[in-house]
Amino acid sequence: MDVKVLRPRPRKAVAALKPVVHGGTNLAQWGEMGLEAARVLDFSANINPFGPPPGVYRALQETPIDLLPDPEGWPVVRLLARRLGLPAEYIILGNGSAELMQLMALAYIEEGDRVLIFGPAFGEYRRISRMMGAEVAQWAAREADLFQPRPEEMVRMLERVRPKVVFLCHPNNPTGTAYPMDWLARQLERFPETLFVVDEAYQPFTLGQATSALNLRAPNLLVLRTLTKDHALAGLRIGYAVADPELLRPLRVVRPPWNVNVLAQAAAVAALQDQAHVQRTLTQLRQVTREFRQALLDLGFFVLPSVAHFFLVKVGDAAGLRDFLLRHYRVQVRDCTSFGLPAYIRVATLKPEENAVLLEGLRAWLRQ
Ligand SMILES: Cc1ncc(COP(=O)(O)O)c(C=O)c1O
Repeated sequence: MDVKVLRPRPRKAVAALKPVVHGGTNLAQWGEMGLEAARVLDFSANINPFGPPPGVYRALQETPIDLLPDPEGWPVVRLLARRLGLPAEYIILGNGSAELMQLMALAYIEEGDRVLIFGPAFGEYRRISRMMGAEVAQWAAREADLFQPRPEEMVRMLERVRPKVVFLCHPNNPTGTAYPMDWLARQLERFPETLFVVDEAYQPFTLGQATSALNLRAPNLLVLRTLTKDHALAGLRIGYAVADPELLRPLRVVRPPWNVNVLAQAAAVAALQDQAHVQRTLTQLRQVTREFRQALLDLGFFVLPSVAHFFLVKVGDAAGLRDFLLRHYRVQVRDCTSFGLPAYIRVATLKPEENAVLLEGLRAWLRQ
């Protein structure tokens, strides 16, 4: 006889969801392979490999942790506002930009709303939209186009779907492609009831090759930025959104209290005060990226063009290669199967001596 177990049920939209695959630290798997976190070379997380400005560590030591954080992160917001030339009301902080995406979804997406993703792109866009019960449509860039956008097709998709929210990752993760900002400016005007979320997590890495959407002013534009990547504060979790104050008001309402902790705030202030370090390391990274890409091309791989410090590499069996490199070279690359690209890995550029380890691993893979 079947015994029905009674238990609380999650919302329908949530019950149907699976966790998203991400790059980065994975202790359950690394431990199983006998690897210690500190010794894995992680090419899967796209963080500035030269680390945060040195003043960050001093700031962390000097920060009292027995006080509540300022709920707005006022010192950080003030610095960002000055740097961007905007009033403070245009900025909101989050526990990483990943939290801000979720706050946007909580504030703006209702069950049955349509969301359009220009992909293949960061998996969180789909998760948070589905979590709210939205119908998700995707326009997918094609391999034959080197994953470059097709603006006219994308407009037709906008016209057909008439989405409540659009996600645009600029430059795009994982393809490293940028979108034309004059094109975006026109769409912001044509679709005033659509919220355009432009994720610029990696824009600073392009050193201007991808023009920032921060230069556009529109009441339906939300630009996401983060200090976890270019300022290398990934473990502390701090990002920000820039938008019209009216657009941000609902995000302030749904935000959990004290969402950005005191250490993250102190680190952000110290990091923002040392822009020379960030600019110097990003410029250095540009040169290292060029050499790394060339070395991969020299091995005979198909390497996609990218305006960022990460890029797609066609390898055939991405899952098999990822496993091989972890086991034998303690190197982690991003298997792009979850992006719908099982033949590709995504690699971020690390320091030259670290890139050399990956190249050695790839040579061994090619020999077997
Ligand atoms: C495109 C993109 N946006 C946002 C994030 C999340 O960044 P954060 O660390 O600010 O939450 C990531 C992290 O992998 C990303 O790849």
